[in-house]
Amino acid sequence: MPETSENVLEVKNLKTYFFTDDGDELRAVDGVTFSVKRSGILAVVGESGCGKSVTAYSVLRLIQKPGKIVDGQILLRTTDGKIIDIAELDEKSDELFHVRGGLVSMIFQEPMTALSPVHSIGNQICEAILLHQDVDKSQAEKIAIGILEKVGIPGAAGRMKQYPHEFSGGMRQRVVIAMALACKPQLLIADEPTTALDVTLQAQVLRIIKDLQAELGTSVLFITHDLAVVAQMADEVAVMYLGRIVEHSDVRSVLKNPRHPYTRALLKSLPGMSEGSERLPSIEGSVPSLMEIPDGCPFHPRCPHAESGLCDVGGPPSLQKIADGHYVACVRVEEIKAL
Ligand SMILES: Nc1ncnc2c1ncn2[C@@H]1O[C@H](COP(=O)(O)OP(=O)(O)OP(=O)(O)O)[C@@H](O)[C@H]1O
Ligand code: SF4
Ligand SMILES: [Mg+2]
Repeated sequence: MPETSENVLEVKNLKTYFFTDDGDELRAVDGVTFSVKRSGILAVVGESGCGKSVTAYSVLRLIQKPGKIVDGQILLRTTDGKIIDIAELDEKSDELFHVRGGLVSMIFQEPMTALSPVHSIGNQICEAILLHQDVDKSQAEKIAIGILEKVGIPGAAGRMKQYPHEFSGGMRQRVVIAMALACKPQLLIADEPTTALDVTLQAQVLRIIKDLQAELGTSVLFITHDLAVVAQMADEVAVMYLGRIVEHSDVRSVLKNPRHPYTRALLKSLPGMSEGSERLPSIEGSVPSLMEIPDGCPFHPRCPHAESGLCDVGGPPSLQKIADGHYVACVRVEEIKAL
């Protein structure tokens, strides 16, 4: 994949494994390479359990035992031209502390985990600002109110003293977004930021993230299981299956001309994309356990184009370039082009 100084993040051959008591190695993320362009939005999409959150947690070095990053680089390029390999940082270093919350911030899958129930939201946002920016308390308060206004909290100044339980679900997720963006991070990681919300709120919150991203120029790694959300949010998309990226391109190419059978199946399960506009219940079969990753192409037991003796032997196919900026990991990609 192209490496340029425009990239704020370059993840190269990331492998994050979990080690069971029985000595098994669960390869949750197994050789993932991608980059996020400065001011761009890369979506990582895939079914539940394919390694999206483990990838995101790895970038911030939040993987706990029995998990471990066993290989790879996580290169963060700061605006002053410095390159930090997050994978190499000491766990207790000031640099890693500065990366987390300062240079890179994250909106988690479950919004309540990001907020403390016993501190007012004003205190929580100000604390984050004071930890990572060289400002005094009154400047931090001003910044906090400004960002709460930006995410659409009415009467922001008056609500600074309120506690998370005094906010509705949608408002709470806005607070979480405000907190994540208060320090003007170079990269925002949003891990399914709207799954806990109803459809209307989901649309509002996605809009806020997109608008703020455009206004602040923040780069975003956006994680979702929903290709419809990808279409709305992202410039580029990486499709993940069983810990590996199977297709990567700009959003338009992937949505208009998906080339990996898994991407095609994901698209077919969207409403309005399949014949008769019926949403398919799901892709046939289920994601195998990490204990039983199939030989050959990990998708072969569920793939309608799998060819015995070709797709079920050897190691997993690697990503090949099939057009400018479009990469696919399928050994039959040319043969099944027209299908
Ligand atoms: N602490 C852990 N110990 C063992 N296995 C784990 C651990 N955390 C994650 N895994 C495994 O790693 C794989 C990837 O999990 P991950 O949470 O990244 O999936 P995901 O793509 O984010 O799914 P979802 O859409 O459900 O959030 C799964 O098989 C999961 O069971
Ligand atoms: S390599 Fe074979 S099994 Fe895998 S996606 Fe391609 S056709 Fe299907
Ligand atoms: Mg997840």
